Amino acid sequence: MPKRIVVLISGSGSNLQAIIDATQSGRIDGEVVAVLSNKAGVFGLERAANANIPTEVLDHKAFDSRESFDAAMMELIDSYNPDLVVLAGFMRILTPEFVRHYEGKMLNIHPSLLPKYKGLNTHQRALDAGDQEHGCTVHFVTEELDGGPSLVQGRVSIELDDTSDSLQQKVHVREHQIYPLAVEWICAERVSWSPEGLLFDGQPAPAEGIQFQP
Ligand code: GRF
Repeated sequence: MPKRIVVLISGSGSNLQAIIDATQSGRIDGEVVAVLSNKAGVFGLERAANANIPTEVLDHKAFDSRESFDAAMMELIDSYNPDLVVLAGFMRILTPEFVRHYEGKMLNIHPSLLPKYKGLNTHQRALDAGDQEHGCTVHFVTEELDGGPSLVQGRVSIELDDTSDSLQQKVHVREHQIYPLAVEWICAERVSWSPEGLLFDGQPAPAEGIQFQP
């Protein structure tokens, strides 16, 4: 049975597009059954509509608490009966209840080589630290922000003339490679989740995630 995927976005949705493309080509044995945004009018919603995927907008500003917003999201997401929930540029902090509800079946992509640079401004922080390498990580979501088990990482080298913007662009290229890959593996049931770590094809995955080879 193809897996049912719900994607949460807040913006342009270029990672969403990469995942849609990989479902349409048959590489991912799954279907994006809904795209939910907390912002109306974002380009990601147009991408979903162009692919004939149902869209939902739930404006967090219409709710009086994070808890009530997350409860409404859960209800909406669960109405699509997902096997996998994919955060693709979804710019909201999630409540512990929400995270626990999707434990082991919710992924996020973060623009750094976790555990380095959790949180914001990751490209500038990598530059400021004088790092020679940077990248992105697909990880399972736990209650610790950007802290759940890593599944796959994509690396880029930092050159002397790199800026935060140029790095962001380079990292985006890797994001569009590793996010569909992670979803492909999960839909093919090659990944088993536990809070202590991941198994990939029955073997413990490296703590920093499997390294993507471009
Ligand atoms: C990506 O840079 C991702 O790392 C971060 O949010 C951004 C989403 O970009 N979590 P897009 O909306 O997929 O283009």
